[in-house]
Amino acid sequence: MSKILAIESSCDETAVAITDDGKLLANVVATQISVHEKFGGVMPEIASRLHTENISVCLSEALDQAKLKLEDIDAFAVTRGPGLIGCLHVGLQAAKTLAMLYDKPLIPVHHLAGHIYANEYVGEFKFPMLCVVVSGGNTELVIMKDHMDFEIVGETKDDAVGECYDKVARVLGLPYPGGLPIDQHAKNGKHTYDLPIPNAGAGKYDFSYSGLKTSVINLVNSLKMKGTPVNVDDMARSFQDVAISMVVEKSLAAAFDYGVKQIVLAGGVSANSYLREQMKSRLDNSGIELIIPPLWCTTDNAAMIAKVAERLYEKKVFAPLTLGVDPNWKIDHWDKFDE
Ligand code: KG4
Repeated sequence: MSKILAIESSCDETAVAITDDGKLLANVVATQISVHEKFGGVMPEIASRLHTENISVCLSEALDQAKLKLEDIDAFAVTRGPGLIGCLHVGLQAAKTLAMLYDKPLIPVHHLAGHIYANEYVGEFKFPMLCVVVSGGNTELVIMKDHMDFEIVGETKDDAVGECYDKVARVLGLPYPGGLPIDQHAKNGKHTYDLPIPNAGAGKYDFSYSGLKTSVINLVNSLKMKGTPVNVDDMARSFQDVAISMVVEKSLAAAFDYGVKQIVLAGGVSANSYLREQMKSRLDNSGIELIIPPLWCTTDNAAMIAKVAERLYEKKVFAPLTLGVDPNWKIDHWDKFDE
């Protein structure tokens, strides 16, 4: 029997989850979105301060939900990276303090491995598998030949797709985070605006979003200068078609080239309705199974961190109390944390 308490604080959600032999006993998420909304993006300094204020409340609420005390916990897991440095530090200091106080192992978890393993709450992994990791901070294609075996085969050369959604939403006057509002407006729009299909250079499975972002911003500004009204629905649709098509085409190319049995979607942008629809229909009769995460685990949470931590607990992947955060930690280096 192993009871794991996991902490996530890499961006704008403070989260604590507790699992007992894989069973999710508690899943608490305190989101800061309403605070950052006013700024049109995450303010790192404010985010760290709010994590500091929220962490103890989340901890005690999770323990209440699980009907457990801190002394019942067998290991403390935490997101070590990637993420915002000050935010990561809050979670790490909390986890280190608890591990030291209760003399229990400290488990360092990679945030994107968490997003991938969130899918285990809904399906069983079959390898080789392609993970389409699309979030506010990352856009990468990862091949897994076995559990905890990650090979990055493609990634963005500049902005992440979620970041691009957020910037485009901002220029269109839509609220932060911009993914859902654009997704909703796109449903009522037509693809009428001509936007360039980004070229990510040599990498067959690589992405690029900064050119697309700049094109939308320039087009909106020039229409405004000419006094031509911008049709938000049509702009959202035109943008979404290009942004998501790139994810779909690159993912399918990698999936067929690597002969995968399964594809999993991971990260905030995996909530996108057009991405889900396109992946489902394009994979129909392909022999490749698709796992689509439920909406609750597309955004940041600690249940996904606990899922990875359970595997690491079994393998005894524990970190020393000198552990530091790594804002740029690569997923294929998930087991390198004491250098
Ligand atoms: O995974 P996440 O919380 O961020 C990181 O951990 O980096 O994802 C947040 C991102 C935001 O950029 C948000 O706009 C985007 O996910 N997002 C969406 C949708 N819902 C959230 N993007 C496109 N369509 C959506 N429905």
